[in-house]
Amino acid sequence: MADSRKATDEFDRFVEGLQQEVDRQARAIYSARLIEEASYPDHVGRMKAPDAYGRSMGWCGDMIEFYLRLDGERIEEVRFMTDGCGPTLACGNVLARMIEGLTLDQAGDILPEQIVDALDGLPEEHFHCAELAVSTFQNAMFSWRFKQQAEGD
Ligand code: FES
Repeated sequence: MADSRKATDEFDRFVEGLQQEVDRQARAIYSARLIEEASYPDHVGRMKAPDAYGRSMGWCGDMIEFYLRLDGERIEEVRFMTDGCGPTLACGNVLARMIEGLTLDQAGDILPEQIVDALDGLPEEHFHCAELAVSTFQNAMFSWRFKQQAEGD
């Protein structure tokens, strides 16, 4: 019994040390803001029967989805999902928060660079994560507009 407790304690210390190393490496590459957004994303999730929905896959193979609840042209609520990297999670979360409350036109003007600024920077090799978030939101917006137009015809 004492042996199994000792093994468990050693394993816990190993996992804790590993986590500290991962955290140290992440802090060397990413801003504190990015780590915070990726660790505690408050807009992640799926939405039942969204008014608008967009899904894209980046060249890296990562997928992201945006769900919008609209009141006319105003974005009332946003949720997103991704199977991508930490930066994608952070980019999706920042964009979701930025566009809530805006009109589709206003939100459609947001550039990937604004997400990068909001995250206090993003390594160059992850700039496409911000682009993927923006283009996926735009897919949702254009699909909604296309549907509105089709229904109006
Ligand atoms: Fe693929 Fe971030 S590495 S979207």
